Amino acid sequence: MSEQIIERINTLKKEKDAVILVHNYQLSEVQDIADYLGDSLDLSTKAKELSNKVVVFCGVHFMAETAYILSPQKVILLPDLESGCPLANMITREDVLNLKKRYPDIPVVGYINTSAEVKSEIDYCCTSANAVEVVSKIPSDKIIFVPDKYLGSYVQRMTKKNIILWHGYCPTHLKIIKEDIIKLKQQYPQSKVMVHPECSLEVQDVADVIVGTSGMIRYVRQNLEVETFIVGTEIGMCYRLKKLFPEKNFIPASEYAVCPNMKKNSIDKVLYCLENLEPKITVKEEIRIKALRAIENMYKITKQ
Ligand code: 13P
Repeated sequence: MSEQIIERINTLKKEKDAVILVHNYQLSEVQDIADYLGDSLDLSTKAKELSNKVVVFCGVHFMAETAYILSPQKVILLPDLESGCPLANMITREDVLNLKKRYPDIPVVGYINTSAEVKSEIDYCCTSANAVEVVSKIPSDKIIFVPDKYLGSYVQRMTKKNIILWHGYCPTHLKIIKEDIIKLKQQYPQSKVMVHPECSLEVQDVADVIVGTSGMIRYVRQNLEVETFIVGTEIGMCYRLKKLFPEKNFIPASEYAVCPNMKKNSIDKVLYCLENLEPKITVKEEIRIKALRAIENMYKITKQ
């Protein structure tokens, strides 16, 4: 059955000039049909660079929105419209406007995990892969960082900037707790612990490295003598890592770190998307133009 679905997906991809972009947290069946797999930054950049007319974005809502902001001439499809991001929903455009009123003239950096409306009011966008670089290159000692307080605190530690935090967090990353990592470390004393900067600070404190999902791949590549890695992020990442490095062991820091939204996309829904060119993701033009500025500012400042 799934073979027939995959065959049909491949035929439709050619017919409709479509490409399938897949985030590292997606179900294994979706990762297996990806044209490109990656983190938030890789996938946004790919969506911009590729010439295909149709992009099937297997991730969560803000990711597909970001692809549309960068490439409004393309048809951007999200297989399950309900796949939102609770962290992105923890801040609104009005919240950002209030912060700007309260702290005038302080640059606002917003994580890519935000709605297009929020992006339209921030100065710079960033991802987990470049947050430290973006913040450290902004010529201001004070920065407002929204919405993830743990990523913001991590950036504060790494840059020594004075960071005004928002109180957002990722519920999935908070399922990862320090005690579980300590137990796993006792079980696998030779292992290395990699955790995402959306994890709590006490979890970050027991890690060997704090990196986004692409950073985890890079870290394994740089530490090929290590056999076992404890993976402190959404468990879909273990599937990605195991496919890249089949001879290594990847142990989830918590079996409970499952993002229910990321798991809503399936190959059936990808097929439906390609057959019907629905559900489409779009953004109002006046919001898109303003949100694009923040994303372009991210690309510009990281090239400096
Ligand atoms: P990455 O950009 O590191 O893949 O993280 C995306 C994300 O949504 C984490 O929750």
